[in-house]
Amino acid sequence: MDKLSITGGKRLSGEITISGAKNAALPILCAGLLTADTLALANVPRLQDVATMQKLLRQMGLSIEEKGDLLELCGRDIHSPEAPYEMVKTMRASILVLGPLLARFGEAKVSLPGGCAIGSRPVDQHIKGLQAMGAEILIEAGYIHARAKKLRGTRIVTDMITVTGTENLMMAAALADGETVLENAAREPEVTDLANLLVAMGAKIEGIGSDRLCITGVPALHGASHAVIADRIETGTFLCAVAAAGGDVVLRHTRADLLDAVVDKLRETGAVLTSGDDWIRLQMAGRPKAVGFRTTEYPGFPTDMQAQVMALNCIAEGSSRIIETIFENRYMHVQELNRLGAAIEIDGHTAVAQGVPRLVGAPVMATDLRASASLVIAGLAAEGTTLIDRIYHLDRGYDRMEVKLSAVGADIQRIR
Ligand code: EPU
Repeated sequence: MDKLSITGGKRLSGEITISGAKNAALPILCAGLLTADTLALANVPRLQDVATMQKLLRQMGLSIEEKGDLLELCGRDIHSPEAPYEMVKTMRASILVLGPLLARFGEAKVSLPGGCAIGSRPVDQHIKGLQAMGAEILIEAGYIHARAKKLRGTRIVTDMITVTGTENLMMAAALADGETVLENAAREPEVTDLANLLVAMGAKIEGIGSDRLCITGVPALHGASHAVIADRIETGTFLCAVAAAGGDVVLRHTRADLLDAVVDKLRETGAVLTSGDDWIRLQMAGRPKAVGFRTTEYPGFPTDMQAQVMALNCIAEGSSRIIETIFENRYMHVQELNRLGAAIEIDGHTAVAQGVPRLVGAPVMATDLRASASLVIAGLAAEGTTLIDRIYHLDRGYDRMEVKLSAVGADIQRIR
């Protein structure tokens, strides 16, 4: 198993190119199941989760070819509308095949995802929405068996805001009979990116970017070309890394308007941020100031940035209160950050970090994707060497993070 070795205390300077968004690329790949034509996708990030999704889709018969920088998908010969447990257990986003398969082929068999390191994460809202559209759903032996001769449009109000739930139902509704209204829809930029692709494929969607999506089903969707939006969480992660280590870095191929809530918090820490259409620059001199926040759905502060900003708070001046409202168990990084000398206490959904003047490197263990990113940030700020074990979590969602960080002066190596 690969490890990362980081010797902290180096200022970062230079430029980093941001990749396409993991959480946009995953549903967009699944949209390849919705048409017999070709989808040409640009800016697809090279990540473990993307490779896992490709493997799953290929197993169903979707053809996927790399042509230069493009990924070409063709769903002419789908032969097996099934997502087996072995795949779904390694990546929960596999549930995103359910809506497209059911809508286009009238049936799907998808393993029920189990719990995961950050919470129980049920998919009841995906199922409830598809049932409201007329699907017959049977849960048996750990699998969701779904059938519907033809899905019908209806009004669906989800109990909570769900990102992949909104994506699944939007894809299903694109090929249903009549109009579907999704109330309480997620407004995350990745949902909008998928909606824009679906429109390019011939779908009729109104209210894109809002919490009420009106989708009028069409008999078939056609091929399209699309470039995946920038990864706002990768962007935010590197901004935190520079804020923690100090320095002056420009991030290219990204947009500040995708992460206003994070940019505002980073400004409160004392970082100077400037941006243009497709770049963000962060300059940090001196010690950051602690910042409190509460995670909420977009456009609020993203849960996927909670661990990284917490890492910054560990070395900040003052204390901060962080409230995680999206997932029940997303504080697995706290014990590891404390091993580096941080002073964080958790009480239910609240974490209080008392900033310390310095962290000291130690061996630590990555527990999930964003937790791993927080350990990298802490390692860059710590004195001495931090050895991070189980970085396969990091590789699921960050494209060669150590290469990008080395290029701006970090002392970081992958140990194979
Ligand atoms: N929920 C339910 N029932 C459902 C669906 C969701 O109870 O049917 C609950 C969840 O348990 C959670 C909350 O609703 O407490 C929100 O979950 P959501 O469905 O929005 O999460 P998700 O779609 O499974 C996506 C991202 C996550 C990100 C969350 C929240 C993808 C592939 N994953 O997950 O990304 O944290 O939205 O923004 O888009 C990550 O990239 O590290 C990551 C975990």
